[in-house]
Amino acid sequence: MAEKTHKQTLGTLYDSVRNAYRQAGCAGPGHRARQLLDYLGIAAPGEALTYPDKVVSDAEINKVQDGLTRNLAGEPVSRISGHREFYGLDFLLSKETLDPRPETELIVDLVRKRFTDPDQALSILDLGTGTGCLLITLLTLYPESCGVAVDISEGALRTAYGNARCHHVEARMACVCGDWHQALTARFDVIVANPPYIAREVIPGLAESVRRFDPILALDGGKDGFMEYKKIFSGLERLFYPHSRAYFEIGYDQENGIMRLAEESRVASCKVHPDNGGNSRVAEIACGDK
Ligand SMILES: C[S@@+](CC[C@H](N)C(=O)[O-])C[C@H]1O[C@@H](n2cnc3c(N)ncnc32)[C@H](O)[C@@H]1O
Repeated sequence: MAEKTHKQTLGTLYDSVRNAYRQAGCAGPGHRARQLLDYLGIAAPGEALTYPDKVVSDAEINKVQDGLTRNLAGEPVSRISGHREFYGLDFLLSKETLDPRPETELIVDLVRKRFTDPDQALSILDLGTGTGCLLITLLTLYPESCGVAVDISEGALRTAYGNARCHHVEARMACVCGDWHQALTARFDVIVANPPYIAREVIPGLAESVRRFDPILALDGGKDGFMEYKKIFSGLERLFYPHSRAYFEIGYDQENGIMRLAEESRVASCKVHPDNGGNSRVAEIACGDK
């Protein structure tokens, strides 16, 4: 890290952060340095290269120093900055929320592919909302729609409501603190969920950035990874209209398991979609027409 001077520039700050990542043996040190500066609100991506003479303040240098130290100690940049981009929108995180993952964006893509009219008034249910990233993104894409965000964690729901306010959709989003769909009696056009689906015995071997910073309530899928899915599938059909669709995120090795669960339940069809990496990622469920 460069020493503080009265006129440190963005270029020298960027170089010193990149060198620190390089010396620590991190892959892609330049990318990581740009990402840190971006997430901490110091410089937009690319600005360090295109606007290197910009003067940075001592407070900014201290912020970057602190962020760099925490990041090198294993804390994700999103946790340090307290926010994460999902589908082009910014979401605040809290200790009770999962840090949204880019692969979850596939759920939004699949909803858009099926429900092609953005002016449609859809009712949307988000089971295990966390930051609210799925429901809030869908409500911004379908401005006539409304939705219900469910989470068992009050803290997560508080964060989701805050994010809904930031994106001006709070008037169209109800928050329910409860166990999946147990308290719900309504039907929905679209149901989305990214429940905890990691087998319990796998959790100790997860990357430190996940194990230490994502809440266990967002990860733990019980003995076989399907404990929460079994609860979600039980009575699921009462939430569906014939035209409704549900989109559930699954682990790369859970295609057979989710197909089995779907067969045992009274859903009509279950199709698994791969993510960009070719891994099974989202199960699309229908209860009426296929
Ligand atoms: C993997 S996180 C997904 C968060 C968010 N939907 C996303 O994709 O980033 C799973 C969420 O389910 C919530 N959850 C866990 N058990 C639950 C339950 N029994 N009922 C409702 N929500 C639950 C957790 O608190 C967590 O917010």
